Amino acid sequence: MLELANKRIVLGLTGGIACYKLAEFVRRATEQGAIIDVVMTEAATHFITPVTMQALSGRPVYLDPWDARIPNNMPHINLSRGADAILIAPASTDFMAKLVHGMADDLLSTLCVARGACPLLVAPAMNREMWLNPATQRNAAQLREDGVVLLGPAEGDQACGETGGGRMIEPDQILNELIAFFQPKLLQGRRVLITAGPTSERIDPVRVITNRSSGKTGYAIARAAHEAGAHVTLVSGPTALSTPYGVDRVDVESARQMHDAVMQLAQANDVFISVAAVADWHVVNSSEQKLKKTADNAAPALQFAPNPDILAEVAAMQNGPWCVGFAAETENLIQHADAKRRRKGVPLLVGNLAQQVMDADVTELVLFEEGGHTSLTPRPKLQAARALVAAIAQRLPRKNNT
Ligand code: CTP
Repeated sequence: MLELANKRIVLGLTGGIACYKLAEFVRRATEQGAIIDVVMTEAATHFITPVTMQALSGRPVYLDPWDARIPNNMPHINLSRGADAILIAPASTDFMAKLVHGMADDLLSTLCVARGACPLLVAPAMNREMWLNPATQRNAAQLREDGVVLLGPAEGDQACGETGGGRMIEPDQILNELIAFFQPKLLQGRRVLITAGPTSERIDPVRVITNRSSGKTGYAIARAAHEAGAHVTLVSGPTALSTPYGVDRVDVESARQMHDAVMQLAQANDVFISVAAVADWHVVNSSEQKLKKTADNAAPALQFAPNPDILAEVAAMQNGPWCVGFAAETENLIQHADAKRRRKGVPLLVGNLAQQVMDADVTELVLFEEGGHTSLTPRPKLQAARALVAAIAQRLPRKNNT
């Protein structure tokens, strides 16, 4: 499924070295089905050529309010009519100031003023001192108040050699935020806590007991919940995955660390989704030093003790979050998952067959709740995660103050 199928986007480039990153963005966004009209300020053309942007978007690039190619000579009106969003990236300090004051002295600023109800997303890109300047901070706050969606900026190394805030978020993050922008805001104002990935139980400094969970399902749910407008905290065991943009991540290794992190955060959340494959046991006699082979090559005598059941504990909390459990079974899914839901005391438990989902990109989820179960048709993990988020939003008790 193309994530931006038939979405018409006006992409505005202003003067900044980050312009080169928008070539990649245009490429990726058009692959996802977006139709992109690129508009460049005069300053942007010093950083990347209109030819590059035209070749990648496959459409004419607009630079000039007096563009004679346009029959009615009104690109500042035509471009935003019928567009699903205007995205300014990179947005310079100067251009943000122009937006705040409604200035209209080139094609891009004029079309922003003339955009009517067309949503405007802005990805600032500038030196850290320029970003921290009180005038820029005032402008950023004013833009938010005016309903403009600010994407970033991020912190990090800057082209000028300095390090700090003001760096444009990466092209794939801009793409994901654009995709997120078009998702229904089913969890707006809600706080969602998610556990994901495996846990890892230490035997000695170089050996652990873990499991084959990749974390993909939990990370996809974190992304889908963020897309739906929730504030998301992801407590993650060791995985090779990168954190979905906009999600707070807390890294843990063992089940007991995961337990402690979740217990600290649970009460502050509306929903707890327990996706992690939590180890049931930890090694009581783990060694401070690497275990060495003995003369008779005997296997080490490991002693195990049970780990806390994180989900069952959160489900039993007074005024705790609304809980969703997971069960990956290898057989008898219906019986095992149904019994597990009752045992853990959760209103919703999501079941799947472990051999079908381990490391896979497609997943088939079955929702177990009081009164029966329903299957969601198999789909890629992100689509399945969105369907689950919609199902949770539908079942979530209303907040007292809503
Ligand atoms: N879970 C948890 N803490 C544990 C074990 C499991 O929070 N110590 C959560 C998982 O995140 C999942 C659900 O409980 O949401 C079911 O996990 P699973 O491993 O399938 O269940 P177990 O209780 O371990 O049962 P069994 O191993 O017998 O299948």
